[in-house]
Amino acid sequence: MAKILVTGGTGFIGSHTAVELFNAGYEVILLDDFSNSSRKILTQLKTITGQEPEFVELDLCDEAKLNAFVEQHPEITGVIHFAAFKAVGESVQQPLKYYRNNFYSLINIINAFKSKVNLVFSSSCTVYGQPDVLPVTEDAPVKRAESPYGNTKQIAEEILTDTCKVTPDLKVISLRYFNPVGAHSSALIGELPIGVPQNLVPFITQSAIGKRGPVTVFGSDYNTPDGSAVRDYIHVVDLAKAHVAAIKRMEEEKSESNYEVFNLGTGKGSSVLEIIKAFEATTGEKLDYKIGDRREGDVEQVWGNVTKSSELLGWKAELDVNEMMSSAWKWEKYLKDNPF
Ligand code: UD1
Repeated sequence: MAKILVTGGTGFIGSHTAVELFNAGYEVILLDDFSNSSRKILTQLKTITGQEPEFVELDLCDEAKLNAFVEQHPEITGVIHFAAFKAVGESVQQPLKYYRNNFYSLINIINAFKSKVNLVFSSSCTVYGQPDVLPVTEDAPVKRAESPYGNTKQIAEEILTDTCKVTPDLKVISLRYFNPVGAHSSALIGELPIGVPQNLVPFITQSAIGKRGPVTVFGSDYNTPDGSAVRDYIHVVDLAKAHVAAIKRMEEEKSESNYEVFNLGTGKGSSVLEIIKAFEATTGEKLDYKIGDRREGDVEQVWGNVTKSSELLGWKAELDVNEMMSSAWKWEKYLKDNPF
């Protein structure tokens, strides 16, 4: 079985994908620099999978070290590249930090493998901005990014498109995630936000456990059924499984071209207020929340058309909003008793 390198392997989506790769029988090497994750995730992965994960601590911007590592591992045939900075607000404050890290790491990986590798790239529905047509399909126009972070995703997709045109040995699948939430059913791995969570679900769970004050609903005057903004929330375990499907598609030479793009969502939108209600209903916890102003840069509503993913990747999200909320809550409670 091929060996897969997972960059950002101790991060939120990386760690869940590592579990699904193990489950599918792959050999895996995790790579991380712990700039936004914890070493303890390795122990957690060992508990979940019963195997000691192979791991390398490396900053992908360090080209010489990365090249040496890749030379020592000719058995790696696929890379799932999660490692990137992802805080939208911070990217506005420190754009060069984002452009430097997110581009150098991507370019260094392609060069290190001499363009001969199957690569899965973590992209985002942020590339669509506010789509004109919903649910949004992969061929919808890419809109001007609202933040340097969003721009790194757009430009990275262009870098990959241009490179694939002239390098037939390089196979790439870009996965455009909608809103990944939830945690592994074991509650041993999940999202570990640094400081005050900017994303809705970690803020909800931290508020419910007493770490934060009330949840603010950012905007109640949107043109949506209940006035709050609508997103396509997707369970991180479903998302992780799609990465295995993407690797398999490239290995089995099923790609229609050497650069492909897929939406990863449930195909269903939920409003902020619906998420709050789902959290309360599934956990039995009462949430303290208030209505606030819209957040700058937010789109009104977006959810994905996932027909292409289901037809070509053979993948479909299976877990619903209730499972997203109950697993996120179980993880928050685990963290309270077992701080990282
Ligand atoms: C954000 C990023 C997006 C990134 C995605 C994945 C922005 C503008 N976009 O998406 O680029 O790919 O995360 O992690 O940050 N909300 C509240 N109260 C809160 C927090 C959020 O009402 O305390 C609302 C937001 O206004 C939004 C929804 O909840 O309508 C989801 O927000 P969030 O979880 O931050 O994700 P996105 O903004 O959709």
